Amino acid sequence: MNTPTLKTERLILRRFTEKDMEALFLILKDKEVNKFLPWYTLKSLEDTKKFYEKRYASKYEHPQGYAYAICLKENNVPIGYINVSMEENHDFGYGLRKEFWHKGIVTEAGKVVVEQVKKDGLSYITATHDRNNPRSGKVMQKLGMTYRYSYEEQWQPKNFPVIFRMYQLNFYGHTDFVYKKYWDMHSNHFIEKF
Ligand SMILES: CC(C)(COP(=O)(O)OP(=O)(O)OC[C@H]1O[C@@H](n2cnc3c(N)ncnc32)[C@H](O)[C@@H]1OP(=O)(O)O)[C@@H](O)C(=O)NCCC(=O)NCCS
Repeated sequence: MNTPTLKTERLILRRFTEKDMEALFLILKDKEVNKFLPWYTLKSLEDTKKFYEKRYASKYEHPQGYAYAICLKENNVPIGYINVSMEENHDFGYGLRKEFWHKGIVTEAGKVVVEQVKKDGLSYITATHDRNNPRSGKVMQKLGMTYRYSYEEQWQPKNFPVIFRMYQLNFYGHTDFVYKKYWDMHSNHFIEKF
């Protein structure tokens, strides 16, 4: 099933729809929120619609996927997003409007998404964050993900070198398995002690 609606104490996680373009634009236009994400801040509702088509609507056409709008229960308006890729990395990613940071919202959303992908039979998820964005690493840790390695990448499209930390969570007993693709792709790779 693709992006089944999920509920938590404070949140509704659901698909984005065409009616959400203004709310999505508020998330994607903010410089600070998008600093560590692999796209430039958006400048218009038109760009937001294209972003939605490419990164959400097209995903919903697949039999399985997880591309969620994070909404508060009180108004069901998107204030952030949380996604798990169906590519081999099963990359886990999230972002939230700044006004809603420091309330535990992404951790609350992440917990229920992790439960869902586990229930649906994914065997692992991975996530990477820029070493200069440790708050994102904190979310990964709170979800039970563990640090595996770091690597340097000439990051695109912003085109500057970034050290990423790779976290992983395995389900169903594959405890030692490490997703090594980033390690293999980037020659400057290492395990940090922190
Ligand atoms: C990284 C990011 C998603 C974290 O969002 P968040 O909702 O603030 O994160 P959490 O769910 O972990 O919330 C933790 C904070 O809420 C506080 N909190 C308050 N109530 C809480 C509760 N009920 N449960 C848990 N934490 C709670 C915690 O003390 C913690 O405070 P702190 O941030 O001052 O340390 C957010 O900063 C963001 O959108 N950043 C930009 C996008 C980004 O970097 N994405 C990741 C790219 S790899």
